[in-house]
Amino acid sequence: MIEKILNKAANGEKIAMLTCYDATFAKLMELAGVDILLVGDSLGMVLQGAENTLNVSMHHMTYHTKMVKNGALNTMIIADMPIGSYEQDNEAAYKNALWLMKSGAHMVKFEGGGDKRIETARYLVERGVPVCAHLGFTPQTVNQIGGYKIQGKTEESAKQILKDAKAMSDAGASFVLLEMVPAALAKAITENIKTPTIGIGAGVDCSGQVLVLQDLLGIYTGAANKKPAEFKSPRFVRNFLANTHSIQDAVSTYVKAVKDKSFPATEHSY
Ligand code: KIV
Repeated sequence: MIEKILNKAANGEKIAMLTCYDATFAKLMELAGVDILLVGDSLGMVLQGAENTLNVSMHHMTYHTKMVKNGALNTMIIADMPIGSYEQDNEAAYKNALWLMKSGAHMVKFEGGGDKRIETARYLVERGVPVCAHLGFTPQTVNQIGGYKIQGKTEESAKQILKDAKAMSDAGASFVLLEMVPAALAKAITENIKTPTIGIGAGVDCSGQVLVLQDLLGIYTGAANKKPAEFKSPRFVRNFLANTHSIQDAVSTYVKAVKDKSFPATEHSY
């Protein structure tokens, strides 16, 4: 399953990834040709109505991963490791990653770079757990970062993200996901590492793209405790339902737009 997607990337085909949290949408996305389903901890916001991903647990993640697996037996699934499930020690990270794999994930994703995270990636990969590294803006550390801010804007931070991406690739990560970084930086990373990159708010030159399903459908209006009018959709979001007749059509249009590189356009990039 992973090999098939990596081969597509190696042949220059763009990879279309979408978040997915249940069986109904998993089946629909499989039929629409989505390459990878991401059971993202964004479910904390879009399903649970929270302000961020910080309340998401391993129980939530395994529950939704099982549902997605039930709906899509033939599509690759990546599951997010929620906050608190991988930072402390590698053995605990391994145990939690296995739990996600036993629930149906083919690969796990966790956030952050630096020596400790790179060691965790290596530890998991050596034990047979495929890893997607999430760099750039990392939602689980939103409070430390001080809000939803573009990363890699200064020369120093761009260098650090490139260094982390290289190290994650060397540690055996199968994908590097780049969130909210300048398109030029994402391009440089994609050209300088052997691992395919998946972008969200990272420009068209990544090896693939990911969006949150509810954003793609234009139905996410912010946390439950906020008025919809207070929510401003991020720049990288495009509503694919707007000019189509069904959800399935909207998802197929997204896949096509990723493959033919018409999404993301400059207006969706930094
Ligand atoms: O949890 C999630 O949906 C993610 C995407 C924003 C990439 O990590």
